[in-house]
Amino acid sequence: METTPSDTILVIGACGQLGFELTHALRQRYAADHVIAADVRRPQQPELQEAGPFELLDVLDRPRLEAIIDQYRPKQIYHLAALLSATAEKNPEFGWRLNMDGLLNVLDLAVKYKVAQVYWPSSIAVFGPDTPRQNTPQLTIMNPSTVYGISKLAGEQWCEWYHKNHGLDVRSLRYPGLISYKTLPGGGTTDYAVDIYHKAVAGQPYECFLQKDTYLPMMYMPDALKATLDLMHAPAEQIKIRSSYNLGAMSFSPAEITAAIQRHEPDFEVTYKPDSRQQIADSWPASIDDSRARQDWGWQPEFDLDKMTADMLLHLHQAEPQVAESR
Ligand code: SER
Repeated sequence: METTPSDTILVIGACGQLGFELTHALRQRYAADHVIAADVRRPQQPELQEAGPFELLDVLDRPRLEAIIDQYRPKQIYHLAALLSATAEKNPEFGWRLNMDGLLNVLDLAVKYKVAQVYWPSSIAVFGPDTPRQNTPQLTIMNPSTVYGISKLAGEQWCEWYHKNHGLDVRSLRYPGLISYKTLPGGGTTDYAVDIYHKAVAGQPYECFLQKDTYLPMMYMPDALKATLDLMHAPAEQIKIRSSYNLGAMSFSPAEITAAIQRHEPDFEVTYKPDSRQQIADSWPASIDDSRARQDWGWQPEFDLDKMTADMLLHLHQAEPQVAESR
């Protein structure tokens, strides 16, 4: 379904790693003042509230969420607010409540206010230690072992249920680790692959919290934005999966990303001190089979490790990053 410039779009979790860049991309594409950025706290990035409307919103505050939807009548909602894997393990009750009740509030109000489309991110965290690790298929054993993964898998099932029972056009992607230079991720297991570039550019050594041979699926932010917008703009009949699509781009280990950085910064040093996040990483896929996304709506990534590394280092050398955590 094509959204027209006069339509309104609501982005919940707009200050996070993905939300910040997605809001910007949507404002570039549509009328900037029709893209409403919302987050539980004021943005550290001034442009988020200068380039278009900004609303303070705790997605668990259902009356407030309803008031915002009632006021703006969005045609699309991108609901991105969540606790990531490592943070949710430390605060399981809140992680479950935010990730689950937040989604249910959005899905329920989207039906009530006839919102045309909802986007909600899932993750490689829906898979667990029993899942085949290489080239993980779309449909396979799941059994996630983290609160984050359990909430994402349950969320996928709810999305499917709302689609089936209410005809809600809700779409979702299972993101791999997302790597970007504009905002920092907050509390994920794949965050090392962002932190490592910041240290390299600062000329400092990096102590990695995962072992050097831990492979995980990863993706550069421009590809994640492209995938999200391509999915949302694909004709509804092409969207055959209403839980969430496997999505891949590249897969590497800490040793490989270190080597890629060292081709630009030969003096860069990395040491390894695995912590509790190692266990989470070990339960996730090493690589992803995303053939359904490729077949159904033409998914094709652009960035591999070397291309991403060159671009990350270029941009990080050019500017100080704006720091934002997800909630
Ligand atoms: N990047 C996320 C995390 O590490 C996974 O979706 O928690």
